[in-house]
Amino acid sequence: MRIPLLVLALIALCAPALAQTPAPVPVTVSSPDGTLTVSVTTDGDGRPGYAVSRLGRSVIAPSRLGFILTDAPKLERNLVVTADAATHHDDTWEQPWGEQRFIRNHYRELRVHLRERTAPARAFDVVFRLYDDGLGFRYEFATQENLTTLRIGSELTEFNIAEDGEAWWIPSHEWNREEYLYHRTPIAGASNTQTPMTMRLDSGLHVSIHEAALVDYAGMNLRRAEGRRFVADLTPGFTNAAVEREAPFHTPWRTLQISDTAGGLVESALILNLNEPNAIGDVSWFKPMKYVGVWWEMHLDQKTWGSGPRHGATNENTRRHIDFAAENGFGGVLVEGWNVGWDGDWFGTGWDYSFTEAYPDFDIEALAAHARERGVQLIGHHETGGNAYHYEQQMEAGFDLYQRLGIHSVKTGYVADAGGARVTGPDGQPTLTWHESQAMARHHLAVVAAAAEREVAVNPHEPIKDTGLRRTWPNWISREGARGMEFSAWGQPGNPPEHEVNLVFTRLLAGPMDYTPGIFGMVTRSPDGIATTWAKQLALYVTVYSPIQMAADLLDNYEANPGPFQFIKDVAVDWDDTRVLNGEIGDFVTIVRKERGTREWFLGAITDENPRALQASLSFLEPGVRYRAEIYRDGPNADWRDGAGRSRADIVIEQREVTAAETLTLRLAPGGGQAIRFVPLGRAR
Ligand code: NOJ
Ligand code: CA
Repeated sequence: MRIPLLVLALIALCAPALAQTPAPVPVTVSSPDGTLTVSVTTDGDGRPGYAVSRLGRSVIAPSRLGFILTDAPKLERNLVVTADAATHHDDTWEQPWGEQRFIRNHYRELRVHLRERTAPARAFDVVFRLYDDGLGFRYEFATQENLTTLRIGSELTEFNIAEDGEAWWIPSHEWNREEYLYHRTPIAGASNTQTPMTMRLDSGLHVSIHEAALVDYAGMNLRRAEGRRFVADLTPGFTNAAVEREAPFHTPWRTLQISDTAGGLVESALILNLNEPNAIGDVSWFKPMKYVGVWWEMHLDQKTWGSGPRHGATNENTRRHIDFAAENGFGGVLVEGWNVGWDGDWFGTGWDYSFTEAYPDFDIEALAAHARERGVQLIGHHETGGNAYHYEQQMEAGFDLYQRLGIHSVKTGYVADAGGARVTGPDGQPTLTWHESQAMARHHLAVVAAAAEREVAVNPHEPIKDTGLRRTWPNWISREGARGMEFSAWGQPGNPPEHEVNLVFTRLLAGPMDYTPGIFGMVTRSPDGIATTWAKQLALYVTVYSPIQMAADLLDNYEANPGPFQFIKDVAVDWDDTRVLNGEIGDFVTIVRKERGTREWFLGAITDENPRALQASLSFLEPGVRYRAEIYRDGPNADWRDGAGRSRADIVIEQREVTAAETLTLRLAPGGGQAIRFVPLGRAR
């Protein structure tokens, strides 16, 4: 149904749900409870724009929409706006695994039609979905005579932040891809940024810009044009077009999460809701799990990926890890450096890799059989050196091998500098590309599809950014896509104490991260070593969500420290419910999660370099039930700066009974944290 603008304006004035923004804004829609309102308009030249307000206060000032094409006039002016009546959607869906079991998908949708007033009269739609905690919008191109192939040079989508404030961001188009420390600057001090970019406005409102459902399109960065006005900045393609698509198609959703509290951003399911439902059916063959691995010892340079006297992936070392996993209740064992191809120059090349041929001292058949006998799974590893072209020629054979051996997950890797990944170019030859280009968006989904056919789940490192595609492809279980723990093994510098409290409110809004926590050996090749306390290492299992969590340290360090190791053995990896009790971006956060299918809860609290006393109400627990709280907290001398009487390893492990009526004071040391397991005991007396 098409409705003329005048009628729409009248509807907007009469219908309460549409009446948040006063006339003369021509087209508006509000979120289900009226918190957020979007209005769409055109200026005198027919240039379209949108604006967002929250409870009547501007959040996104008028911002342009449109495209610059490389082989046709741009699509951004001389446009007429019409719109359909807004629709309402409300249902609840179930995640096969995740940080929350049931997710409510509750929004109002407005479809806006834009058509050029004169020939060639090209047309496109912009669809807005308004939730109470954020919104998404995307462009849709229908089949039409004068717009068949779109070659998109730039997307003109703007985000004109209405208010001053602070921003947390990492730079885009830099050589080390997503592996940068976060900047905290005034909003107008951000430059070229990746997403999610998260802001706290001076009014206290929290806003994060990202995208959802990045399928067959270039990843979006942000470029600050002036003041607080940011413009979508697409990752380059093979030519001066970042994206080449045939109509009909639609872009990814451009997303804005908007919340009073920083924790509200974390609790929002916006990104997942804007993705399509599960496309691959039952994935019960993948079980969320904790794992150990032949891994950290390479990052400490005690062992090598390549063959030779220090080779890590030997039969003996792998058997030791399998037996350790079985004895301590871990589901998986990652083994890196098992396959031929590591001996030459693999960084940014990857030509030598075989994904089916093991080194002679790694008997993959016997080790997989031993693992199966002990109820543990090997986790496959496919480092590609960024060479997706070479990998695509072998990946199916690699997944076939894993399927035959009962291996249901693989860690992939794309170690190459930015712009140095290789894909099949338009001429069928290997061509260099960016890790977040349209070509790599296609590559990652091709891998995930080929893996799903063989019941293999995928965890890419140096990946394309997460945009919630795990909803559609629930075998896309986790990824890296930020500085992981490995930077504290060898980084110059390593990850500072504030790193994880930045990640929770930025990178992790996009989706799970394979951060690889659980380190007790605090001295590494990086100048500050592991810049946290032991208690914080434990708390990371709750605060950094992933359905696969590594116990990343050397087995010797776990065997030597059974006390704190007990929490790593006990902590859950799959959840019914998640709540953020408190938090400020870059400063601290406390998250509680209820284990899927049991009555146990887990709490993780982490801080930056500052000590804190955080209040945690236990009202999330079942009322009237006594719980045993197994507490792992910073000791009196705990401090991320070792020495002078201070120690990262100072941890107090204690138990006490608690009920939902209590409020705990969580005392966190500088660079510290706290982890608690709550086990129900019975009814309170
Ligand atoms: C980088 C990954 O992040 C790391 O986990 C892996 O060990 C190396 N690449 C080698 O694949
Ligand atoms: Ca990495």
